[in-house]
Amino acid sequence: MQVTGATELKSRVAEFWDRRPCGSFSSGEPPGTRRFFEQIARYRYRAQPFMRELAGFERFAGQRLLEVGCGLGTDLRQFAAGGARVIGVDLSRRSVALAREHFRIFDSAGHFLQSDCEHLPFADACFDVVYSFGVLHHTPDTRAAIGECYRVLRPGGIFMVMLYHRRSWHVMVEPYLLAAKRALQAQPVPRGFTDAAEVVRRYDGVANPLGRAYALGEVRQMLGQFGDLRLRVCQPRAVNGSWLAKSYSGLLRWSGIGRRWGFWIVAEARRPR
Ligand SMILES: C[S@@+](CC[C@H](N)C(=O)[O-])C[C@H]1O[C@@H](n2cnc3c(N)ncnc32)[C@H](O)[C@@H]1O
Repeated sequence: MQVTGATELKSRVAEFWDRRPCGSFSSGEPPGTRRFFEQIARYRYRAQPFMRELAGFERFAGQRLLEVGCGLGTDLRQFAAGGARVIGVDLSRRSVALAREHFRIFDSAGHFLQSDCEHLPFADACFDVVYSFGVLHHTPDTRAAIGECYRVLRPGGIFMVMLYHRRSWHVMVEPYLLAAKRALQAQPVPRGFTDAAEVVRRYDGVANPLGRAYALGEVRQMLGQFGDLRLRVCQPRAVNGSWLAKSYSGLLRWSGIGRRWGFWIVAEARRPR
């Protein structure tokens, strides 16, 4: 991709997340208020009950932890509460401003910078942990961003990343079920409705300019320079919505589909010593 194209795309990505900072859909409260942040966190950890186990918010006490694409700082506040010394960066200026306000309201210690994950403004090897959840698939050069995470991580440090899973129920099966439902209800099926790239892009909103998904093998390959790689697949669950939506989501969990063909790949790896 040409530099100008990538720069223009990034500014559209930043505008998109400025308009709807991550998780803000789950609160009806005015942005920046205590209730706003509380509701977003409550929704998040109900929909993603596996987060505490996967992220291990308490295991980094005293360590320097960078969150790349911190959004509103929802997870970062959990790491800070667990005793980590935290810094969050995000491309979206509004998300960074709200994350600062979030930490001020809850009296949490942390620093925030508006920054691009493809060019992190930090020296080599200066963090013990780099965490990035649902971010690196929204930047034009995901590999460059992973390279930056590696660079700023100290040898032996831990990298945790969530990337969307292409070989998932959400991408490969669900669009066809939804298209069939529409057809049965005599509703039009929009163009690109079952197109995998479109399904992934739309996941965060119809106006989302950029979202990609990967197969497990691609994630393994992109993280090839790290050691001790562990991959987990998971699927957030429906918390609000109809009885049918909740039952469907329960069925994906109960049947094990979510663990095998869930939409999220969560990887943890170590920079070799
Ligand atoms: C789905 S949200 C995730 C936010 C947060 N990690 C969370 O889970 O709540 C994606 C975030 O990635 C950020 N982002 C997208 N491209 C980025 C880039 N090139 N550099 C830094 N952040 C970026 C967006 O601004 C947005 O806040």
